[in-house]
Amino acid sequence: MADTVKLEIGGKASEYPVLSGTVGPDVIDIRKLYGATGAFTYDPGFTSTASCQSALTYIDGDQGVLLHRGYPIDQLAEQSSFMEVSYLLLNGELPSKKELDDFTYTISRHTMLHEQLATFYRGFRRDAHPMAIMCGVVGALSAFYHDSTDINDPKQRMIASHRLIAKMPTIAAMAYKYSVGQPFLYPKNDLSYTANFLRMTFGVPAEEYEPDPVIVSAMDKIFILHADHEQNASTSTVRLAGSSGANPFACIAAGIACLWGPAHGGANEAALNMLREIGTPDRIPEYIARAKNKDDPFRLMGFGHRVYKNFDPRAKVLGKAATEVLDKLGINDPVLDTARELEQIALKDQYFIDKKLYPNVDFYSGVILSAIGFPTTMFTVLFALARTVGWVAQWNEMISDPEQKIGRPRQLYNGPAQRDYVPVSQR
Ligand code: ACO
Repeated sequence: MADTVKLEIGGKASEYPVLSGTVGPDVIDIRKLYGATGAFTYDPGFTSTASCQSALTYIDGDQGVLLHRGYPIDQLAEQSSFMEVSYLLLNGELPSKKELDDFTYTISRHTMLHEQLATFYRGFRRDAHPMAIMCGVVGALSAFYHDSTDINDPKQRMIASHRLIAKMPTIAAMAYKYSVGQPFLYPKNDLSYTANFLRMTFGVPAEEYEPDPVIVSAMDKIFILHADHEQNASTSTVRLAGSSGANPFACIAAGIACLWGPAHGGANEAALNMLREIGTPDRIPEYIARAKNKDDPFRLMGFGHRVYKNFDPRAKVLGKAATEVLDKLGINDPVLDTARELEQIALKDQYFIDKKLYPNVDFYSGVILSAIGFPTTMFTVLFALARTVGWVAQWNEMISDPEQKIGRPRQLYNGPAQRDYVPVSQR
């Protein structure tokens, strides 16, 4: 591509630099466009707009590639741990053994919640969606941890990041415990990050909890696969909220709110509900027909992705993990058969081929989470737990970026032009 592009509007020409990243498409730097031409660009949903520079995550949607700091997601999911990936995302490089031990220790020392937050939970209805609780509790953290809200102090930013990563499992487990009416369990720091979370969720004070290594490993893999995903809707929300200088807890609460939607983090809940509704493989054609019918708003949940137009590499890892977990737990869930059959049928169907619709990460994660024992309402909560490290890493990167400005998109106004107010008696 040329080093600059020329644009002519109303007979007036202007020129814009083309910037190249390490890999991936070049971008046209249009920061001076408005000043030079008086025109904006129009790109609803940001399908062609790079909103920032980032060194964290790279996705090639056509090739099905996802890299964190250059490392392929399948290598990280198979060989690494969630703590190690968290360190990598936050710090840029894989840790040495000592760095990993120190990081894991630091995270384990922030797992407890301020005791008054337990009272905060009791303000929610028992049937509250755990995402509603999580949004509220994470937002409320800023009222408890004043010593880590100065965003201009890199040390405070790192403490807030560690706190958020460490406290999220406690917050998520407490949301679950509250909904089932069981006592909250305090964290136990001799357990790993993931085993500790499982104990706080499924353990009870009356008994010792023995984490099952198969489940711990599957859960850790799910956390790794959800740790970051470039400038998706919730991450962009965190960046936009953070661009005004808002404190990190408020920003992450905004990200959680965005993640809740069924087109984003809510899709794994929706995908499992859909698979259960389909019930048996013989009913699949009916649902495929509905997904293809333009007059029916139904979509195959867990299918399609804004960026992956070949396959979602995370879905590949999870498809395999789903079989492993169910086999090892001795669960014979017809939902997994329905999922596999639906995937095969859809992958051969011309509609899905033409529109490049493939299973995404949410297609199999629900099957695994359900086998582990999580209710569907917890699925998005687990996504938020894992994505918190990505959000804080992106937020830190944004604050440290000298080109960072408050996010302020423009618009194409199509409402009424100026008109005079008419008193109500004359309308
Ligand atoms: N089932 C049936 N048709 C679909 C599906 C689907 N799951 N997804 C997209 N399409 C069709 C659309 O109807 C549209 O058809 P048209 O061109 O004839 O109008 C075409 O494919 C393009 O769809 P868009 O919505 O324009 O694609 P976009 O990139 O904006 O959307 C999205 C991506 C939101 C993920 C979409 O595929 C979807 O709704 N999928 C189901 C929800 C889901 O699984 N979300 C999880 C995403 S992954 C994540 O957040 C972790």
